Amino acid sequence: MSSENALNNLFPSAARIPEQYRLDIPIEQREYLLDGQLHRWEGPLASVRSPICLTHGDGHTEQVILGSAPLMDAEAALAALDAAVRAYDNGQGAWPTLRVAERIRHVESFLLRMRQQRDAVVRLLMWEIGKSLKDAEKEFDRTCDYIVDTIDELKELDRRSSRFELEQGTLGQIRRAPLGVALCMGPYNYPLNETFTTLIPALIMGNTVVFKPAKFGVLLIRPLLEAFRDSFPPGVINVIYGKGRDTVSALMASGKVDVFAFIGTNKGASDLKKLHPRPHRLRAVLGLDAKNPGIVLPQVDLDNAVEEAVTGALSFNGQRCTALKILFVQRDVLQPFLDRFSARLAALKPGMPWEEGVALTPLPEPGKVDYLNGLLQDALAKGAQVINPGGGGQRETFFYPALLSPVSADMRLYHEEQFGPLIPVVPYDDLAEVIDYVLRSDYGQQLSLFGNDPLQIGRLIDAFANQVGRINVNTQCQRGPDRYPFNGRKNSAEGTLSVHDALRVFSIRTLVATRDREANKALFSEIIQGRHSSFLTTDYIF
Ligand code: G3H
Repeated sequence: MSSENALNNLFPSAARIPEQYRLDIPIEQREYLLDGQLHRWEGPLASVRSPICLTHGDGHTEQVILGSAPLMDAEAALAALDAAVRAYDNGQGAWPTLRVAERIRHVESFLLRMRQQRDAVVRLLMWEIGKSLKDAEKEFDRTCDYIVDTIDELKELDRRSSRFELEQGTLGQIRRAPLGVALCMGPYNYPLNETFTTLIPALIMGNTVVFKPAKFGVLLIRPLLEAFRDSFPPGVINVIYGKGRDTVSALMASGKVDVFAFIGTNKGASDLKKLHPRPHRLRAVLGLDAKNPGIVLPQVDLDNAVEEAVTGALSFNGQRCTALKILFVQRDVLQPFLDRFSARLAALKPGMPWEEGVALTPLPEPGKVDYLNGLLQDALAKGAQVINPGGGGQRETFFYPALLSPVSADMRLYHEEQFGPLIPVVPYDDLAEVIDYVLRSDYGQQLSLFGNDPLQIGRLIDAFANQVGRINVNTQCQRGPDRYPFNGRKNSAEGTLSVHDALRVFSIRTLVATRDREANKALFSEIIQGRHSSFLTTDYIF
């Protein structure tokens, strides 16, 4: 089927949606979680729209309204923050003083309950952000795996910290202690996974949390609210809804947030950080903008480069912070690269998230199609061409990918993070042009090198090692595996996340020390044997 035909038949009638993927709509969500109770929000609601449109009998298409969610205000958000502050109780609360093994048990019981909600969450991932069934399932399962790995890692960390050290006559035990109240906010492209990669480590290390779901992917947290409520003591996890500027700004300005975990734009992060009255008391862990380049060298396995570049640029329609967002292709291999990329792209199936084999789906952000079209028109006006048949075709919330070449420095696409299905290709002759782009870029998350000349690859690894957080060789950029560090330089990130690093980010090493004397050793032995401390202990968690 041509892309034109595929687009004309893209949006189904309600009757064509398979029974098992239908949603009972509208979903009017008024509940939010505060201090261990589900409260009912009686204030205004925000409408929740799906990226999916339906075709009616007369042929016109209409975007689906899924329902609504609370549009909370500063007062309600501050009440949630106060609940978290009370539960932390200056570090004296039940949660921050609980033994590690006990905190692990709470998280395990949450995971058990969470797994029961897989179908509901996966279905909402499809309807709220247009993620394909396969990717939505992957997001859910990967998140559960992340929780399991986090528990294992904490056990290991705790085992290592349960021994005493002797250094220059000082006997000490070093353990990690929580930091206080964490504010966790995730992005709409991974509304479950990326949020939970900060939320779970924050909780398990003994912090208390205020969690605000992403701007899209809001209703899918609803099936987990009871699990949160029942698995943690009151106030340890509080879930709020609403616009960031009405809620989060007030939280930051209160000065009561100790850790700020945020995935979004660098501008948003900077604006919020500036509101905190005591910035030296705020720890931030941020995942921000990126414009990861893919660099195709003349000596290359072109089939592999194309395969990786297509998935790297277009998985979830390019809406990944790690997506390849600009491709530099050496002029000798430009034409075969474009031909093969274009052919591979034509095989990607546009459709609804639940359709078998679907790869391209509608976009959740209002105005996104117009924004992408603006980038496209700017590039065309300045000399780029659309290489693939049908590239840039649009229907309502859907944008068919456009492979664009030659892209140059005067075009917006060369600089802006498109976060969508536009693939700019910059032909180059001299590698110095590419190195210069990376050095001057405001972003520094990752990049991909495609080639098999050891001299060239070796030289480029050295050139880029001080520029980005991860250099991928003959493979696309990506966050996983989750045990590897995920970070970035410049405007791309603050702090490092991984299963291991996240536990460090949400805690501080605390040392209990004494002089190596008999009386002190006897005292410590008695504390440990009498179990007079939860912190100073040699308990071994199995
Ligand atoms: O949006 C950014 C995500 O962290 C990317 O994760 O590379 O696994 O898709 P991913």
